[in-house]
Amino acid sequence: MPTAESEGRTTFTPEELLASGDYREPLIANGVRCHGGFDDEGRYRSPRTLHRSPAIRAWQSQLASEGGELLEIAPELMPPQYPNVEQAKLLLRNGVREPVVRALTIISIVEGFGAMIRDVRVPDLASLFVEPLEGTALAHLRRGLFEAHARDESGYRDEGGHKQMWEAARDAALENPKIPGDVLMRLMGRRGRGSRPEAAFPQIDPDLERMLGFMSNVLVVEVFAEGTFQWGIDVLSDPEVSAEPEVAGGMVRNIQSDEKPHVEYLRTALSEARARTIRTVDGREIAGREVVDGLLHRILKQMTRTRRSDQREDIREGLVQAMQVASNPKRLLEEFDALDSDWTPPGQTGFEPADAA
Ligand SMILES: [Fe+2]
Ligand SMILES: [Fe+2]
Repeated sequence: MPTAESEGRTTFTPEELLASGDYREPLIANGVRCHGGFDDEGRYRSPRTLHRSPAIRAWQSQLASEGGELLEIAPELMPPQYPNVEQAKLLLRNGVREPVVRALTIISIVEGFGAMIRDVRVPDLASLFVEPLEGTALAHLRRGLFEAHARDESGYRDEGGHKQMWEAARDAALENPKIPGDVLMRLMGRRGRGSRPEAAFPQIDPDLERMLGFMSNVLVVEVFAEGTFQWGIDVLSDPEVSAEPEVAGGMVRNIQSDEKPHVEYLRTALSEARARTIRTVDGREIAGREVVDGLLHRILKQMTRTRRSDQREDIREGLVQAMQVASNPKRLLEEFDALDSDWTPPGQTGFEPADAA
């Protein structure tokens, strides 16, 4: 519910960007008070969007009026979820819950990791860009945007965020299942595999490259998460496999709507950087477009290439073993594999460097 007074403005205080306004009813999930709430018409309203949503719209129209374009990540680049919706339902119908419980627990943990965005170092951007930054999303990263994002993902004080909301959806749908004890350990092991990438643009301030790289990475994860949300809604709102189809499906829908401001502020700030010129450490200049596109291209290429096989490898290991609880594990595995989705990553990321495009 944007207030008339924030509509069209481009400068906000951190308190404004963190303000939720009033709800008629809070969101309680599995006994935990969560962020967001319901308005007079009973519609869910995402947390911290009272001013944040109109602010993002204002920054986007300002970018457009200055001739900048809003970058877009093609959804076709997103690898399908594994197990897919039909495979997950097949497992649950056969009493094999562990792989689905594991997948949902991984999602909740990864959501909690989102809080790391508040620790991203933001250098003095005004001195690193040639063009002015007043009234842009870039100028508000440290002034509310990163903090709002962190609170949305991992909760704040006594209020649950996405981590707790996914746990609640899982526990409602699958009736407080036993959580495998090794989920976090294995997830950390997998994350540890990738080493920190070398600087792609050593000519610019290293903190600036790290910040833009981190934001690009999170943006891609957020866009790809859209497929995970749809998967969660489809599986958890099916009464055949979910004990609480409305509660669990609705919860994932609430989380899904909270993600919209994340995608929008990140693509806006990256687009603002892309429309500007960056000062290099040796006093020269480089087009922001070259830097942002270079970072996004590298991330998208890597994610479309390895994410699918990483995820499959990880799940496959435990899958065959988990299936032993079914009455005919061998036949179940055959049926499971027959439902597999075909997928080939698109040849282009859409951010190819100019000379290689
Ligand atoms: Fe989230
Ligand atoms: Fe998010």
